[in-house]
Amino acid sequence: MVAEFELELRTDRLHLIAATGAISRLAASDRDGLAKVLNACVPSDWPPELLADHLDEFATTLEQKPDQVGLHMWFWIRDDGVGDRVLIGNGGGGGKVDDRGALAIGYAVLDAFQKLGYATEAMSVITGWMQRQPDVRILTADTCPHLKPSIRVMEKLGMTYEGAGPEAGTIRYVRTIG
Ligand SMILES: CC(C)(COP(=O)(O)OP(=O)(O)OC[C@H]1O[C@@H](n2cnc3c(N)ncnc32)[C@H](O)[C@@H]1OP(=O)(O)O)[C@@H](O)C(=O)NCCC(=O)NCCS
Repeated sequence: MVAEFELELRTDRLHLIAATGAISRLAASDRDGLAKVLNACVPSDWPPELLADHLDEFATTLEQKPDQVGLHMWFWIRDDGVGDRVLIGNGGGGGKVDDRGALAIGYAVLDAFQKLGYATEAMSVITGWMQRQPDVRILTADTCPHLKPSIRVMEKLGMTYEGAGPEAGTIRYVRTIG
């Protein structure tokens, strides 16, 4: 029996659960608790490198700003009706929509589950949800030029190259909504 979540989305193969303060706190400090609340196996190599150092900070942000649920991180559970439910990755937005309506997005999939279309599948529906939020007018994503899978996901989300990103050596992709 899967718990009720504040905000969740489904695709053919994925159950996408928006991070709340409470779930993020479990992710930061209680793997067994996280597995229990997500009703999913949490692989030993979770969290992905990009996320590991930020879980406490995300939990604090979402505890203080519950209105950012959905605009922040989502947990991606593989739930294809065949295998066990497994946490395979995460991704979503940076939480804060800036003055021009821009929301930064990012994502990561555990090694064993890469190249199977999961990032594209998850981020398509998550960005679909984001673009229906009234304040969001632009999606942005920053990456490095050598990270081809990351860039390919951006392209498949309809984002286009804008130019240099804010940090040295990074590039930015954008998609204007509406
Ligand atoms: C980027 C990342 C999330 C992609 O996840 P994924 O689930 O493997 O992506 P998908 O399966 O949806 O693939 C999307 C596209 O990238 C391509 N791709 C994925 N992995 C690839 C690889 N290792 N080499 C070349 N192309 C790759 C896929 O072929 C697909 O393109 P196509 O439809 O033209 O064939 C994953 O590689 C990852 O976690 N990387 C490390 C973290 C990172 O770089 N995050 C992005 C920061 S913004």
